Amino acid sequence: MEVIILPTREKANLLAAKLIAKELRAKPHLVLGLATGRTMERLYHLLGDLYRENTLDFSLCRTFNLDEYIGLPPANPYSYRHYMNEHLFHRVNIDLRNTHLPDGMAADLEAACRHYEAMIAECGGIDLQLLGIGADGHIGFNEPLSALRSRTRPKALTPGTIQQNAPLCGGEANMPKRAITMGVGTILEAKHCLMLVTGGSKAKVLAQAVEGPITSMVTASALQLHPHCRVIVDAKAGAELQGKDYYNWIFRNEPEWAEYQELWEE
Ligand code: GLP
Repeated sequence: MEVIILPTREKANLLAAKLIAKELRAKPHLVLGLATGRTMERLYHLLGDLYRENTLDFSLCRTFNLDEYIGLPPANPYSYRHYMNEHLFHRVNIDLRNTHLPDGMAADLEAACRHYEAMIAECGGIDLQLLGIGADGHIGFNEPLSALRSRTRPKALTPGTIQQNAPLCGGEANMPKRAITMGVGTILEAKHCLMLVTGGSKAKVLAQAVEGPITSMVTASALQLHPHCRVIVDAKAGAELQGKDYYNWIFRNEPEWAEYQELWEE
């Protein structure tokens, strides 16, 4: 795992956008795993800017989202399909037929989950999986005690997650209580993982995920097992990391980060 701490939220977003753009330019058929949530909005808008500046082409890119609420049709403004259309897909030249989210409206949810896993496999697996982190340390909707080898499945949300995400759903009354999510095992199979975490409210859980023990109580901690996982954070989210000085030293000195040094300056 590599942790990169940047001074501001904007710079953390810029680095994440640059890293995604680099992978997409290197492989136009990239299979991109996508995440939702407030954290990702600015990042998606930056990717939209790169497309408008003619420096990024999504025409061959294929995407799989981590999760979708059960019971919200795609047209529902609180569905993750709607979120993705609004924040990314309608801003770039992606072919909507190449964009996938779990089918939270399926009559047979288990079959829909198996189908989702099969589609990912047919595409050759996810090249780059983008991740945020929930207040309880979840990735996707892998709530505490999710098996670290779990696959795509329906999952009950915790009361804390319902409360955390309710503002994005117009309040708790509209907020679904269940979702389909890729499993932790599914996520760990992505070739590269990129977690973006910003804001002081995530500082404690981020430190648990990155520097604490690997535990199903904080499913993001399973990323410690991943051979190529980058965690990009702003100073506020990184405030409780014990190894800050070392992570900063790596970013300042390792040749792979040389081209991004301008982001370091305040
Ligand atoms: C939801 C999503 C997660 C996301 C989390 C954080 O729970 N399922 O993938 O990481 O929200 O959201 P926010 O960025 O709004 O804090």
